[in-house]
Amino acid sequence: MTCFDLAALLEARSGERYALHERHLNHQLPRMLRTLGFDKVYERAEGAYFWDAEGNDYLDMLAGFGVMGLGRHHPVVRKALHDVLDARLADLTRFDCPPLPGLLAERLLAHSPHLDRVFFGNSGTEAVETALKFARRATGRPRVLHCDHAFHGLTAGSLSVNGEKGFRDGFGPLLPDTAVPLGDLTALERELARGDVAALIVEPVQGKGVHEAPPGYLRAAQGLLRRHKALLIADEVQTGLGRTGDFYAYQHDEGVEPDLVCVAKALSGGYVPVGATLGRDWIFKKVYSSMDRVLVHSASFGSNAQAMAAGLAVLSVIEDDQVVAGARATGELLRSRLAALTDRYEMLADVRGRGLMIGIEFGRPRSLKLRGRWAMLQAARKGLFAQMVVAPLLHRHRILTQVSGDHLEVIKLIPPLIIGEREVDRFVTAFTAVMDDAHQGGLVWDFGRRLMKQAAANR
Ligand SMILES: Cc1ncc(COP(=O)(O)O)c(C=O)c1O
Repeated sequence: MTCFDLAALLEARSGERYALHERHLNHQLPRMLRTLGFDKVYERAEGAYFWDAEGNDYLDMLAGFGVMGLGRHHPVVRKALHDVLDARLADLTRFDCPPLPGLLAERLLAHSPHLDRVFFGNSGTEAVETALKFARRATGRPRVLHCDHAFHGLTAGSLSVNGEKGFRDGFGPLLPDTAVPLGDLTALERELARGDVAALIVEPVQGKGVHEAPPGYLRAAQGLLRRHKALLIADEVQTGLGRTGDFYAYQHDEGVEPDLVCVAKALSGGYVPVGATLGRDWIFKKVYSSMDRVLVHSASFGSNAQAMAAGLAVLSVIEDDQVVAGARATGELLRSRLAALTDRYEMLADVRGRGLMIGIEFGRPRSLKLRGRWAMLQAARKGLFAQMVVAPLLHRHRILTQVSGDHLEVIKLIPPLIIGEREVDRFVTAFTAVMDDAHQGGLVWDFGRRLMKQAAANR
């Protein structure tokens, strides 16, 4: 009999974590972490914090790229997962209709009453793939429009609607697609007039750079799409479930009713991979148009009991604890306190976003002394200044943040939605100290010089 002992295995081999990645996984990850000095060992996590072996706490302003919407190890989600395992359900027989997917679909659809049906998959990109396939089948047209700088996932279909060359290069040929600038209705109409467009897919607030669709754009785009019998797909994988201070970010624009909505990330509380594509009844009926086509779009693990139970628990917490209103209020507090610093720091160009999805953009300083340093960094690699801020936030203040995309001078904050004033204070205090140092020509520039050398060496 095997005696598998997870605790003993971790105890024995945890020290090899970086070496194992180097040997068997993406070897560039440990390399990048070492370069930035981010090669930490975190031992434990709870809510918006993790701890290292010495017991130091780290504030998480990244939420695992948004999956930890309720923070780590939320007790209600944990209990639901323990309960569903203990229930020993006859899950995934594939020849019955278990209750949990139906219940989660019902609860999710209550937040977008104009939609009728849900397909459950296992990730954000799968939710997007589903929407692309459904839109093409429903309209009988091949082409999907997306916005410049869009990010919708990295499998081949989702990559076809990715707005960044860097992600696409070397993986083609992809599906027929066309990029239109976010907010540009003329460009949208020009493409629609060609009569071969199935849909426009859009993130109401783009993850890359934290750019919002201008007010009224989604509603006007929806009008154009309807006139040309094409569909609107809202990708709410990152923005959904309260992140932007509304349950869905598209709800910020009155009268917007997307035909398909993609959800994933925070839906399972960060424990179980999950994705969901919500849509109109007629679209699903076109896809599943006969009994023969019952499995024409399906996923072996889709709607598994653990993911569904976690999803139901997450929605309960979001509704019962008024998480969406909390994210809006805390987001406003954080954004306004950061925005107030733009007068004080010449390199702080903009603070934008909605709810707890905030972009902090840096820009060219006015003063001669700083301008020289800024130009030097920009010549080495665009995005180095933002990295220069992210690094001391972690090293000196134990706060984890990220640069919002390659070659961008923008930091993106997407903390767990459960943070409050204490975390806002800690972040603003730390950010102020780092910006003081950067404007006084302090230590952060040493780090910048190190990064510059590294960037040159990596060319
Ligand atoms: C807007 C958006 N769509 C899709 C995805 C892909 O999700 P996943 O990484 O779960 O495949 C992401 C991931 O960051 C995202 O931000």
